[in-house]
Amino acid sequence: MSTATAIAHPNIALVKYWGKRDSDINLPATGSLSMTLDIFPTTTTVTVDDAAVADVLVYGGEERVDGPAERVTRFLDLVRELAGSDRRARVETVNTVPSAAGLASSASGFAALAVAASAAYGLELDTPALSRLARRGSGSASRSVIPGFAIWHAGDDDASSFAEHIDAPDLAMVVAMVEKGQKAVSSREAMRRTILTSPFYPAWVSSTAESLESAAEACRAGDVERLGRITEVNALRMHALIQSCDPPIRYLNPTSTEIFDRVVALRDAGVGAWATADAGPNVVVLTRPDDVPAVTAALAGVAELAVAAPGPAASLVTRTQG
Ligand code: PMV
Repeated sequence: MSTATAIAHPNIALVKYWGKRDSDINLPATGSLSMTLDIFPTTTTVTVDDAAVADVLVYGGEERVDGPAERVTRFLDLVRELAGSDRRARVETVNTVPSAAGLASSASGFAALAVAASAAYGLELDTPALSRLARRGSGSASRSVIPGFAIWHAGDDDASSFAEHIDAPDLAMVVAMVEKGQKAVSSREAMRRTILTSPFYPAWVSSTAESLESAAEACRAGDVERLGRITEVNALRMHALIQSCDPPIRYLNPTSTEIFDRVVALRDAGVGAWATADAGPNVVVLTRPDDVPAVTAALAGVAELAVAAPGPAASLVTRTQG
């Protein structure tokens, strides 16, 4: 038996990934830019077992036999193919995202699984290869392999679509946890529907490619104001795009909108703060570390809050070969 345990953290995109060029291998329509958080880690242990006849997924202490288990098996099949193995594995994963957070855990989940499974199957993958592997589980997981700020290059094929680190100014995020529970429409289905039905999709793809270039320039120049503006505009464009589907999808709720309004008011009062939101009602505010108290004061009482700094790379904690 070989066992490996890995830890990975969620990431929040400043320039979003929304739309695939190839859904079989999660090739995105555009590149994206994110910050890996230092909170809410996922810890995953993979044990490759000669005697096992099937993969087993234990999630939050319970054995799963439904959709997530099938997704994990499909992912392990990729690792087995790389390792030339047909041995089955037991996967135990624990998320520390508070149950009220409602934050997507697929990014940290597949980044931790990529690191743990590749080690347990005896592979020695470098960071781009780990990022590519994590991408196959969930697109945004490609970025959770990377510490701090990451650019996921869209690439033109499997080999060229991976994330890498980019230096950025000193920033923090305030996560406002608006609602718990599963989102009504998965990001996979919502992306599919966007491409098929939104007349705005081509404009999203071209404008996001431009936003990514400007955001990368702002990172390199240490221009927090420019990076912040791009972040908020890109998030609202993504939500406008999603709302323009047929049938429409709306992830932001009145509390989310209230938070976006409070962030505008903060800026009017001279505080550098910019809001973003993924495929759900939770809102994340990008700000300078010194301005975190002003942001948390402005959002007090609206939602449960958590403060994050740029977090570490996905990493291997233990490995025992047998
Ligand atoms: O990785 P997925 O399939 O869960 O998609 C993530 C999509 C967003 O979170 C909305 C945007 C992003 O870039 O993370």
